[in-house]
Amino acid sequence: MPMRGHRQGRPQGGSRRWLRASEYPEEEIIITTEQYPRSSRYTDLHRVYSQCSGPGGLQVTEFLAQKMGVQSGDKLLDVGTNKGYQTCFLAKEFGPFVIGIDPWGDSVETLMRNAKDMAVESRVIGIKVGVPDTGFASGSFDKVMSTTTLEMIRGMKGEAGYREALAEIYRVLKPGGIFGLAEPMHRDVAIPEEIYPYVTRGDMPAPWTECFATLEATVQAVTSAGFAVIEAAEAPDAHRWWQEYCTYDPDPGEDREVIAQDNGRWTTYGYVIARR
Ligand SMILES: C[S@@+](CC[C@H](N)C(=O)[O-])C[C@H]1O[C@@H](n2cnc3c(N)ncnc32)[C@H](O)[C@@H]1O
Repeated sequence: MPMRGHRQGRPQGGSRRWLRASEYPEEEIIITTEQYPRSSRYTDLHRVYSQCSGPGGLQVTEFLAQKMGVQSGDKLLDVGTNKGYQTCFLAKEFGPFVIGIDPWGDSVETLMRNAKDMAVESRVIGIKVGVPDTGFASGSFDKVMSTTTLEMIRGMKGEAGYREALAEIYRVLKPGGIFGLAEPMHRDVAIPEEIYPYVTRGDMPAPWTECFATLEATVQAVTSAGFAVIEAAEAPDAHRWWQEYCTYDPDPGEDREVIAQDNGRWTTYGYVIARR
């Protein structure tokens, strides 16, 4: 997620033609080094987005980690690591001990290779499990972070599956522990006509309309799991993060054109910081 490789659902007609990949305005993307002092040191965005698989790359991780107060001495769980570049970035730049979990493919092996390359292998462990079946003891972690992952679980397992994942995160956090969630969301507006066919179809793993929720619905789900929400909003750089992902991800498929067509009307990226 975002679900790569959609090749179906190309809108017919519409007043604007879609941008081709080569036409996407890469030069408009500006990295704001003041807000992202750590991730702005990772200047090769082609590399960053070949390692991260969602909007925001390392910036979303830094953004959440700052808000969560991630620090040396924390035991942090990263849910849905994929290649684990963000997991290792957390260990390297913020100093916690990080356990990264991902049940699919060779994510854990790739995570551990990245940990070695980034010289944080003594503070990173990858385990091939997923939420809700982590097997961790209750109250194991000071902090839990998850980016661009739980919405995929909603797409695959429905709202009940999303809530089971939240319940597991709640369970494995220590009382008083902090949860940072960030993921693709949609605004509470009608789906723009041009993107409707695309966002209502697809199977990677499900249409965006089955994966994405509004910020309000997400806050409600997090609250229902027992958390006290500290802060929740659309990320200030949501649209730029989507554009950046579409520009630099090696295989954004039709996402690139859909995001350009939508131009921030329906698709967004939100976050929730909550305390157990
Ligand atoms: C789109 S990637 C996001 C990776 C990274 N956090 C990011 O923001 O770029 C989502 C990851 O969630 C993993 N995933 C799928 N089901 C999961 C589950 N039940 N628990 C944890 N991770 C899961 C997938 O294997 C995939 O690597």
